Amino acid sequence: MNHALLKATAQAMSAEGKGLLAMDESNATCNKRFAALGIDQSADMRRAYRDLLVSAPGLSRSIAGAILSDETIRQQTLAGVPFAHALADAGIVAGIKVDAGAVDLAGHPGEKIAQGLDGLRERLAGYAQLGASFAKWRAVIAIDAALPGQACIAANAHALARYAALCQEAGLVPIVEPEVLMDGAHTMARCKAVTEQVLHAVFAQLREQGVLMEGMVLKPNMVLPGLACAQQESAAAIAYATLACLRRAVPAAVPAIAFLSGGQAPELASERLNAMHAGPGLPWALTFSFARAIQEPALALWRGMPANVAAAQRVLVHRADCNGAARRGQYSAAMERAGAPGNTL
Ligand code: 13P
Repeated sequence: MNHALLKATAQAMSAEGKGLLAMDESNATCNKRFAALGIDQSADMRRAYRDLLVSAPGLSRSIAGAILSDETIRQQTLAGVPFAHALADAGIVAGIKVDAGAVDLAGHPGEKIAQGLDGLRERLAGYAQLGASFAKWRAVIAIDAALPGQACIAANAHALARYAALCQEAGLVPIVEPEVLMDGAHTMARCKAVTEQVLHAVFAQLREQGVLMEGMVLKPNMVLPGLACAQQESAAAIAYATLACLRRAVPAAVPAIAFLSGGQAPELASERLNAMHAGPGLPWALTFSFARAIQEPALALWRGMPANVAAAQRVLVHRADCNGAARRGQYSAAMERAGAPGNTL
């Protein structure tokens, strides 16, 4: 295992004032989002949309790394440059989603296990050749009155650790993503208890598989009340609960924690990340790895129309900059009022 390479990549992914752009939606998920906006669901449209994202002027100001899908890393930008190379040219580290999605966990109704370990060593070598420096594997954990069960937590923690060890063997930094879902009416306290339980299980497995803490990035959910919970919480309360949970569960040797957005409204995600930087020093870089909370406004503006590309790019970079500011504790509602510079739509 090349410790120096892994540490350097993890540091580059969490550069000061920057975060990650998750643009690794599977074709099915991307098509679903396109369909909701009346956008044609084809490989060419997915390529055009990913080109819009990667070529947005100023993106690298707040984006240190971007996560691609298997389709995108094999495609070229509209200018004919492989996507991973276009990112590198812009000073952005390229990554790749390598789990093969979540399927029903046998014998445990309502629970999922992420799959994709078979053949992963060979796939990682191929992705490294295509220009990837890091990888991502997402496990999903649902909460309801009876869930999650220990079997689901243990199986997903084990798979995440096997994946992470294979990544480090291949010289790729693993993003370890155990996502406790927001769906449901559970309280923030319940989300906190489940998230802490999941993170303890994940780090126990990471240790057992010999994963280098300094050469990985954790991508957790924020600790939030369920979307249908009657008692929603302030950004300050969410920041307090999330940091308390992470401080208990995540070793200080981990260089960076990059949150997923999980379906939060974009402005709320920025406000909550910002609130986590209100207090004194944290042991890890604490940043973002958002998909929806960065992309949503830009996608809605683009709607598949070439005439909207420039305006959509400005909105995209504005959201990235808001999150870059939040990661430094310098985000404010005034940034939203100022809006994306030059946006005339
Ligand atoms: P969201 O920010 O939309 O939750 O997506 C992050 C991600 O990469 C999910 O795996």
